[in-house]
Amino acid sequence: MSKKYIPNRGFKLATIFFLGIILASTAFSQEDVIDPAIIASGEKLYNANCTQCHAINEVVIGPALKGIEERRERPWLLSWIKNSQKVIESGDEYAVALYEKYKKVAMPAYPFTDAEIISVLEYIDVASKVVPQVAAVVAAGGENGAGGSNEGMSNTFMYAILIVFIFVLGLILVVLGLIISLLTKYIGTDKEVSHEDQELVIDQEVDVFAFLKSNTVLGMIIFIFVAVGLKTGIDGLFTIGVQQGYMPTQPIAYSHEIHAGQYEIDCNYCHTGVRKSKSANIPSANICMNCHVAIKTESKEIQKIYAAIDYDPETGEYGEDTQPIEWVRVHNLPDLAYFNHSQHVKVGGLECETCHGPIKEMEVVYQYSPLTMGWCINCHRETNVKSLDDDYYTNLVELHNEKNTKEPMKVEDIGGLECSKCHY
Ligand code: HEC
Ligand code: HEC
Ligand code: HEC
Ligand code: HEC
Ligand code: HEC
Ligand code: HEC
Repeated sequence: MSKKYIPNRGFKLATIFFLGIILASTAFSQEDVIDPAIIASGEKLYNANCTQCHAINEVVIGPALKGIEERRERPWLLSWIKNSQKVIESGDEYAVALYEKYKKVAMPAYPFTDAEIISVLEYIDVASKVVPQVAAVVAAGGENGAGGSNEGMSNTFMYAILIVFIFVLGLILVVLGLIISLLTKYIGTDKEVSHEDQELVIDQEVDVFAFLKSNTVLGMIIFIFVAVGLKTGIDGLFTIGVQQGYMPTQPIAYSHEIHAGQYEIDCNYCHTGVRKSKSANIPSANICMNCHVAIKTESKEIQKIYAAIDYDPETGEYGEDTQPIEWVRVHNLPDLAYFNHSQHVKVGGLECETCHGPIKEMEVVYQYSPLTMGWCINCHRETNVKSLDDDYYTNLVELHNEKNTKEPMKVEDIGGLECSKCHY
């Protein structure tokens, strides 16, 4: 077999080498040259447009795309992806059968160029072969990535103290018991002791209640109560107005674990404002209906959506009697603070999970971060500004580097700690 020379250097060569090894290991003899740039742009398009309905290896809303080029010719795929409805309307047998099989869920039309579609197909081709291995590696690595709990420390400390207290208390009880029994013995043999004294001491041995009422034991109990009370009180003071962990019950049992996790629907698909505005938006029922007009129509939870928009699944008609779904807000900053999503997600390049935690595993959403001023400020002190491919920052970075050559530019350095940036 003749080796073909690939005119890309460095990183691209390494990528190809890596892909090559994986492909070779799947006993696949690769004849044509893979250009990583094409694959990469295909991947981008695929992730941005197709993942809410397709996966490589499993059926999501639409069919698994593995081996699609073995099933279908390129010209068919080009016209299908550009406008699947047109292909169906043309009476294409395969297309009509597929459409029926997938409960007549219409795939959107994509105004892509041929080259763009081919890049997506190339990506799907590579991913079909790579995904199982990568998935295995990710799964193996994921198990090690356990997240730590940040309140563990103080609690462990408190429990240690409590256990020591209980131990000491027990010790004192034993010693007291010994003294009592010694005294009783002593008094029992001493004829000089008055009748009253004798009665008192001997009664005490028998009367556990009297013993529990003794000052020492009472003192101990009061002390423990005060200690526990203080600890709870102090914890409480630190968390006034902090709703971390808040997890209200929602009117519809909507699950991020199913939608964003299992079916990998992009956050953007529903939270449409998150990249372009201050607020992320909670999706309207229309967005749910893109899929639920056909999926799980018989489910009680889905029928709550139909009720909200007065849709009749039998006739497919919409009525007038609509009312909004009353989702309970989970995250809520006080009005005095200003927070902007697009600034953090688009400009800052932060992942949703940095602030919202493992949303893709949440059956019910809860508030993962404290959302306190200290939390915002800490991150601004520690996080580098993503200035590399942002012309806006070029001058700022130069200025910063003149002043301070070692440290990368942090959010702090662009005014991220100024009161007026976060307070109106
Ligand atoms: C809203 C959901 C949705 C999105 C988004 C979507 N598809 Fe589809 N796709 C479907 C459904 C459903 C079918 C099955 C046919 C039908 O019902 O129209 C399908 C069928 C296909 C097929 C034919 C599969 C086969 O087995 O023959 C291809 C190829 C395809 N889609 C590619 C893509 C690509 C590429 C993208 C992104 C650019 C994309 N789809 C985005 C829903 C979607
Ligand atoms: C299919 C639509 C859909 C997708 C996809 C989706 N969400 Fe949501 N999201 C919702 C709905 C509906 C709510 C309101 C109900 C609730 O809180 O569960 C919500 C609520 C939230 C909330 C809590 C909002 C509040 O009240 O403070 C966060 C945070 C969130 N989503 C983040 C994400 C992230 C991150 C992703 C991507 C990994 C994502 N969502 C994907 C529909 C979606
Ligand atoms: C891109 C497609 C898509 C969108 C958009 C979507 N869903 Fe879903 N939803 C699904 C799929 C797929 C399932 C899983 C069906 C299954 O388990 O067979 C599902 C399941 C559910 C279920 C569980 C139903 C049950 O009884 O098991 C609920 C509830 C639900 N979705 C609510 C919503 C709500 C509310 C919205 C809008 C905020 C929404 N979905 C938007 C695709 C979608
Ligand atoms: C830097 C931290 C941070 C990042 C990153 C972030 N969020 Fe948020 N998110 C917040 C804060 C803070 C709030 C509360 C905003 C408020 O109450 O005004 C919030 C609120 C929300 C809400 C409730 C509705 C709203 O707009 O107030 C949704 C939905 C949401 N985020 C989704 C997302 C999604 C999806 C992503 C990723 C694309 C994301 N967030 C990334 C911090 C973040
Ligand atoms: C996980 C890290 C992180 C957290 C948490 C965070 N931010 Fe930021 N913030 C950033 C980054 C990164 C930028 C820089 C974005 C850019 O390049 O403009 C930024 C920028 C800002 C800016 C613009 C600053 C400027 O000088 O232009 C404001 C305002 C802001 N954040 C407010 C908040 C508020 C309010 C909170 C808390 C509710 C918060 N941020 C929490 C990372 C964070
Ligand atoms: C990065 C964003 C950010 C910056 C910078 C910032 N704050 Fe805040 N501040 C917040 C947030 C978010 C809250 C709300 C926290 C909460 O509810 O626990 C807040 C709350 C407050 C409160 C009200 C506390 C309360 O309990 O109601 C005061 C007062 C305050 N900030 C003053 C300041 C002053 C003064 C500065 C400048 C030195 C400043 N902040 C800078 C984000 C910021």
